[in-house]
Amino acid sequence: MKGFAHLDGLTRSIRLVHFTDPHIQPERGAVEGVQRALRAIQALSPDVDGLLLGGDVVMNSVGVRIERAQEQWDLWDHVIADHADLPIAPCIGNQDCWGWNRKSSGCNGSEPLFGKKMAMHRLGMPAPYYRLQVGIWRILVLDSLQQGGSHGYTARLDPEQRKWLASELADNTTSPTLVMSHVPLVAGPADFFSSRVEAPNERGDWLYPGQHLHADSFEILELFRRHPNVKVCVAGHIHCRQRIEFRGVTYLHSPAVCGEWWRGDYLGFGSGFTVLDLEPDGAFQATGVDVSAELRPSST
Ligand SMILES: [Fe+2]
Repeated sequence: MKGFAHLDGLTRSIRLVHFTDPHIQPERGAVEGVQRALRAIQALSPDVDGLLLGGDVVMNSVGVRIERAQEQWDLWDHVIADHADLPIAPCIGNQDCWGWNRKSSGCNGSEPLFGKKMAMHRLGMPAPYYRLQVGIWRILVLDSLQQGGSHGYTARLDPEQRKWLASELADNTTSPTLVMSHVPLVAGPADFFSSRVEAPNERGDWLYPGQHLHADSFEILELFRRHPNVKVCVAGHIHCRQRIEFRGVTYLHSPAVCGEWWRGDYLGFGSGFTVLDLEPDGAFQATGVDVSAELRPSST
């Protein structure tokens, strides 16, 4: 993982791109699609200082044999090799957890690269969650994924990570802070159009899965409430663009680089990413970019 150390102490605006859910695989033109999105980043002016890689880098490593998982990671290495100078802050996505579906992956859990370890190894991550200083901004990268639940995982922090987040926020109450998670911390209208969210039943209740939204978001947002230097949270996972303002924090959900898993648009959102200009005074601007057809701004 190329670092951000050269940005230490910089007091100018920092430009990062939230680039999430590329779901790379050999099929459906995924490699060319990811290359197109990376070229679009390269063409931006001013230049981009780094990538917030939001997870689901590979199409699916949860339920496949090691050879298929490694093949997908090799493709990511191949496409990112052309952008070796771009610092990358990665976040683990659910599809990056190798072998969690033990039946179809053939894993027994004792494999050296089982679960999150393969993604951490391939992305050069020191830990599944961490802090990064970028200029005067603090970036907190969360690990949304805990094994178990109706779809094999539930989005939440484990107890140790919850303590870490609380102490990070308590230790620094002044630096403007961006939080990245794979799974969103708040829900918005697009979530409810997803096929995974069941429409209101006969009692009029929505059934919202704990894989789409952090099951512990109430507690996390209460922490943010006590720390107004948390300015912006970015997430992927739902493959839709949303912008939600809540209690002084902006929650940005970027569309997937893969759109609908390389089958076209998903709920009207094609391949895209979000450009974040982080200002030294704690302000920021977010600009959506759609690369489905051509490089053009879209609403955020
Ligand atoms: Fe995804």
